Amino acid sequence: MFQLIMMLLLFFPKNVVSDPTGGEFNFNGFLYAAGSAHLKSNGLFRLTNTTAQTAGQVFYNYPLRFKDSPNGTVFSFSTTFIFAIASHYGADNGHGLAFVLCPTRGLSNVDPTQYLGLFNSTNMGDPSNHIVAVELDTVQTAEFNDIDSNHVGIDINSVISEVASSAGYFNDDGTFVNLFLSSGDPMQVWIEYESKQKQLNVTLHPLDVSKPKTPLLSLEKDLSPYLLEYMYVGFSSSTGIRTASHYILGWTFKMNGTAPDIDTAHLPEVPRFDQPRDQSVKGVMAITLSLSGITMLIVLILGLWLFLKRKKLLEVIEDWEVQFGPHRFAYKDLHTATKGFKDTELLGKGGFGKVFKGTLPVSNIEIAVKMVSHDSRQGMREFIAEIATIGRLRHPNLVRLLGYCRRKGELYLVYDCMPKGSLDKFLYHQQNGNLDWSKRFKIIKDVASGLCYLHQQWMQVIIHRDIKPANILLDGNMNAKLGDFGLAKLCDHGIDPQTSYVAGTLGYISPELSRTGKASTSSDVFAFGVVMLEIACGRKPVLPRASESEMVLTDWVLECWENGDILQVVDQRIGQEYIEEQVKLVLKLGLLCSHPVAAIRPNMSSIIQFLDSVAQLPHNLLDIMSAQEINRGAQISCEAGNSPQSSSLASLTFTESFVSHGR
Ligand SMILES: *[C@@H]1O[C@H](CO)[C@@H](O)[C@H](O)[C@H]1NC(C)=O
Ligand SMILES: *[C@@H]1O[C@H](CO)[C@@H](O)[C@H](O)[C@H]1NC(C)=O
Ligand SMILES: *[C@@H]1O[C@H](CO)[C@@H](O)[C@H](O)[C@H]1NC(C)=O
Ligand SMILES: *[C@@H]1O[C@H](CO)[C@@H](O)[C@H](O)[C@H]1NC(C)=O
Ligand SMILES: *[C@@H]1O[C@H](CO)[C@@H](O)[C@H](O)[C@H]1NC(C)=O
Repeated sequence: MFQLIMMLLLFFPKNVVSDPTGGEFNFNGFLYAAGSAHLKSNGLFRLTNTTAQTAGQVFYNYPLRFKDSPNGTVFSFSTTFIFAIASHYGADNGHGLAFVLCPTRGLSNVDPTQYLGLFNSTNMGDPSNHIVAVELDTVQTAEFNDIDSNHVGIDINSVISEVASSAGYFNDDGTFVNLFLSSGDPMQVWIEYESKQKQLNVTLHPLDVSKPKTPLLSLEKDLSPYLLEYMYVGFSSSTGIRTASHYILGWTFKMNGTAPDIDTAHLPEVPRFDQPRDQSVKGVMAITLSLSGITMLIVLILGLWLFLKRKKLLEVIEDWEVQFGPHRFAYKDLHTATKGFKDTELLGKGGFGKVFKGTLPVSNIEIAVKMVSHDSRQGMREFIAEIATIGRLRHPNLVRLLGYCRRKGELYLVYDCMPKGSLDKFLYHQQNGNLDWSKRFKIIKDVASGLCYLHQQWMQVIIHRDIKPANILLDGNMNAKLGDFGLAKLCDHGIDPQTSYVAGTLGYISPELSRTGKASTSSDVFAFGVVMLEIACGRKPVLPRASESEMVLTDWVLECWENGDILQVVDQRIGQEYIEEQVKLVLKLGLLCSHPVAAIRPNMSSIIQFLDSVAQLPHNLLDIMSAQEINRGAQISCEAGNSPQSSSLASLTFTESFVSHGR
């Protein structure tokens, strides 16, 4: 994430407060840079580099006086600058550049990516920001109502623009000419505010066209309530998963007048971003072009081969997908990242398909790519909408979905890489090392907090539907994160309830889920209860070959408890170093959560309170459980009469159809 890495003050000592230039300057020598911004000696400054998810800022060193008193009227001002956005990887680049007026020299605690280094997710829209900006945005962010992935907008205290327009300019005859912001070509922007008319105009044009008479954007709004008496002026820019170099080549500013035009004859050169791959292709071309005759034939064949290879890498993008822009990856990037989905890069096979590890080109972000097959187009649309939702979830105990890519019959989901792999490998395959009790207890708490977020803290309730050790992943510091959330639901789409297909895994499916096929937060709690027992006992929920009393984990734990020796079930491998009360709490809570009667199970926030010892389990819990045992018998035999398919449901037995569908 974004860190304000270094603040460098250039050329001038720190404590000079007043502006030595009297409100007019061209930027040479008076700048201050933060984040990934870099000022070059030839006058060029670069706001972002190839590092993903960073922000860079450059500010004029001194505050400018915009009003004659704190309650005064904002003076007229005018500024013009020349920028260039050089994409690092074809059309995929991000996230944009903004001219900004703000109360401080530099912005801290801000987020990169779609926030452009101007805001963070909590201060968006806050009137105390006092930020007015003009954004040149190269990614469409649906949640901010962005109109497209190549637009100019006027922003006040939020990146949701007051007015916005696709990038371009009006000719004298009124026709509109489109411009591509991230073409790498320098373009000029004018931002002019007139104090009397209270109007802010923004004009954009290429360098070979003189300033158009009609502005691209015009906002009639008094800026006086938004700007403070003294404000800093500068630029902010950010990268996301997609990156680009954002450059400023020249800049002038004038208070109470028109900013002097920039002398384009002496602009610094924008370095072209050369991809290593392009160079090798160029090399091949150079050599082959110097030959003739038969070699021409080889060139043709080579060209055809390259063309076919490219075509193979092409993917379909449909209109409706454009709105999910930020989360879409290019297939060729994933192909390169995973070395062509090579077997050596295979991390494992999950419920939904193969998982590959990879490193994204340019940004060097480590990722895990999950390949999922899909069939219907209709289902796909809902799938992507769902993915856009999942992609917005942010929690330290959820594996982050970075994006997706779709190609032919396949869908690729891109996740953060989890270096330690999944929990089941630790529980059942010792090669990954043993887990002592404190690690196990932390994993339980981590998962509880991720699940609580999905159930109770996100805008809408998200049911995980497939909680099990294989979906609990561990990062480099052994923090546990839930993976694969929301996917089970997606796989339900279009499936006839009559077929009684239940997404989930045998051993973790609650009785009411197996009866009705309807997942709920309490069926998630059931699975989480089983997982808690599994972590404490170090064994699978169902052992078909074990003796009858030990076959089903929950029954066995309950029986041992009733016999007065609940600790007998504990995994020997946790060693002697454990807090007995904690282990007992986990076992009892695990039983309560995996109780066959959904109404008895606690919700996730209560579970967290129990785990944190903020709340106590009832003292007569065993009585409650045993009493319910009898009630449950009655309830089930009565329900079983209504649904012949799911006959003879004891607490954890399953009908044939679930066994065959269980993954
Ligand atoms: C701009 O004009 C206002 C009066 O209209 C004046 O008070 C202010 O000092 C001027 N600012 C500059 C920088 O010239
Ligand atoms: C980009 O800038 C950041 C912040 O200064 C720095 O940490 C990072 O190493 C830079 N990346 C490259 C590729 O130069
Ligand atoms: C500015 O406005 C505030 C609140 O509107 C008021 O309390 C204050 O007295 C005003 N100051 C001046 C100098 O007018
Ligand atoms: C967002 O920015 C505000 C203002 O700088 C800051 O107080 C707040 O802590 C930030 N929030 C986050 C989540 O970084
Ligand atoms: C903004 O543009 C309009 C023409 O479209 C013009 O009449 C007005 O004077 C301009 N305002 C400023 C502040 O440049």
